[in-house]
Amino acid sequence: MNDSPDPRTCLPAHRQPELRVMPMPADLNPEGNVFGGWIMSMVDIAGAIPAHRRARSRVATVAVNSFAFRQPVSVGDLVSFYAEVVATGRSSVTVDVEVYAERDLENPVVVKVTEARLTYVALDEHGRKQLVPPASPAAPERPAPPSHS
Ligand SMILES: CC(C)(COP(=O)(O)OP(=O)(O)OC[C@H]1O[C@@H](n2cnc3c(N)ncnc32)[C@H](O)[C@@H]1OP(=O)(O)O)[C@@H](O)C(=O)NCCC(=O)NCCS
Repeated sequence: MNDSPDPRTCLPAHRQPELRVMPMPADLNPEGNVFGGWIMSMVDIAGAIPAHRRARSRVATVAVNSFAFRQPVSVGDLVSFYAEVVATGRSSVTVDVEVYAERDLENPVVVKVTEARLTYVALDEHGRKQLVPPASPAAPERPAPPSHS
């Protein structure tokens, strides 16, 4: 009997991924799954996007607060990276990133593969940390979606 929990799920409703990528054979580890460092790199890029948007400036990754690989990623999976700001400090922006793999696109199965929390620091044009501006309704966290008229 297999007692392991069923990892199948759905992509998050009403959210847009920051990145959607299909890993290539060059991204595999010797066991034939996607190399963890590839996923970590993509998570860092995806998390930096809402951090940059929130800080309204360049950002640098200051910490990977947590990172959990829940399921392997295989070549041929379509991998989606969802990222959202969960906290802001004086100069820091903390972002949660959730990663989902869509397997077998003809008979789709969605699996949550990775969860991470990263902290970014807002930087000025000289690369020095600076204050994160107050949240403003005039500068939304995400651009409005295109209208289809
Ligand atoms: C980012 C950098 C400019 C911050 O400068 P610093 O003087 O060390 O900054 P601080 O220690 O005051 O920390 C800045 C903010 O990050 C937060 N922070 C620092 N380390 C943290 C950690 N391990 N976890 C969570 N938050 C952390 C601090 O709490 C602070 O937040 P706040 O301003 O909102 O209160 C500097 O550390 C740096 O250049 N790091 C290298 C960044 C880089 O190259 N990243 C790419 C990955 S290699």
